[in-house]
Amino acid sequence: MAAIGLRLAGCLLCALRIAAGGNEFEAVTPRDNIQTANAEGKCHLANLFLHSLADDDGAAQPIDVRPVAGQMQAFEATLDYRMAGFHIQATATPRDACQVSEMSTAATMLDPGDSTLAEIYVTAKQEGTSFKTLRYLVNVSRLSGSETELGHVAVSGAYFVPGWKPENKQYTAFLNLEEDLVKFNCIKLDNGQAVKMTAEVEYAGTHIQARRLQTLSEAPSESKTVGEAQRVNSMLMTTLDVGHSRVVQLQVTSADRSRAGNYYFTVQRPPCAEERRFFDGRSRMCTDICNEGFYGSSATGRCTRCLDSHCAVCEGRNCTLCFDKYELQNGACVLRGAGSGMALVSQVESGVASYAQKHQTMMVILGGALCVIASACAASVFCAQGSIKRRPRLLQEDEDEMQDFSYREDSDRP
Ligand SMILES: *[C@@H]1O[C@H](CO)[C@@H](O)[C@H](O)[C@H]1NC(C)=O
Ligand SMILES: *[C@@H]1O[C@H](CO)[C@@H](O)[C@H](O)[C@H]1NC(C)=O
Repeated sequence: MAAIGLRLAGCLLCALRIAAGGNEFEAVTPRDNIQTANAEGKCHLANLFLHSLADDDGAAQPIDVRPVAGQMQAFEATLDYRMAGFHIQATATPRDACQVSEMSTAATMLDPGDSTLAEIYVTAKQEGTSFKTLRYLVNVSRLSGSETELGHVAVSGAYFVPGWKPENKQYTAFLNLEEDLVKFNCIKLDNGQAVKMTAEVEYAGTHIQARRLQTLSEAPSESKTVGEAQRVNSMLMTTLDVGHSRVVQLQVTSADRSRAGNYYFTVQRPPCAEERRFFDGRSRMCTDICNEGFYGSSATGRCTRCLDSHCAVCEGRNCTLCFDKYELQNGACVLRGAGSGMALVSQVESGVASYAQKHQTMMVILGGALCVIASACAASVFCAQGSIKRRPRLLQEDEDEMQDFSYREDSDRP
């Protein structure tokens, strides 16, 4: 029980951001879908790009353009709260015969929460052709800044019940057995939002029976976006043991910092089967016998490293067999052939092997009864100093365990 307590305390806030790439889901640049819509050599729109106004450094952000479902020649785009306005760039094709006309090159300003319809006309360059002018509409809106919804959230190797919807704030996430890490892949609604992850203490058991109600909620595919994309994609991570559950909270602070809202995910991971009840983090499989140097911990359901790094077979704290060249002395593995001075040292501080080894070298060089006493004294001082600096060892120390810390993820688009 103490072992669980330590492990849980250590893992209380273990969130880590590992990656930021960027793509708005379902974003399509018109280049992909306009040309096929009208490919018979008649005039049509070839490219449509929106950019925010340049900031102080002269950098303009791209704004994703999406086709409006079920409507021809209609698009929509959403400005982040901090984008005061936008520019439109468009070209028509075929280039020698067609042009975009009446296009304003000036910036269009937009208040937070407002929207406007931008019009684009494609005409033939020469008068008198039979080609009728084509009209395209782009509904450009600007976020109000107070939104606390995220654009999209997915967890690798997990599915949500209910399925993801920005306005729904509570989910159960069913994680595959093989997934040691809970990787949240978040796409913000507004790049100005800040997302912070908090993982509560994990508890044994999965209280809700797994029901496969829907297919995997995968991260949106990236293939639909060409070139730069507006939204930053970020990953937040925590850990979860087999047969355990944990509530993960994503706190979203709005772009104008006026509001905060939370998403709650109860993440559960199924236990290993009874006959193979320990999860081996290296092979990502359940096993009945753990590898050398590891033991099956019933508290966490994992193969966990022996406390003594020279121990081959152990039961929790107790080592029963050491690796080659080491032998068991008073419950600790020490280099074979070490004298009584060694035993003294291992009593002073078992598990501080490097100090014991240094000490042994010293022994060999000095030799003699006087030296044994002198160096044993030195060793106790040495070890006492060492133990002050060392972090107290946890009972459970797992090599593949995540470092424990919380991470606040802020908007950081370059
Ligand atoms: C433009 O988009 C905004 C936000 O999605 C919507 O509220 C508004 O009704 C749209 N305007 C038109 C004319 O479709
Ligand atoms: C370890 O050994 C001690 C005494 O030597 C014993 O009381 C304890 O139950 C053992 N622990 C395990 C997990 O075997």
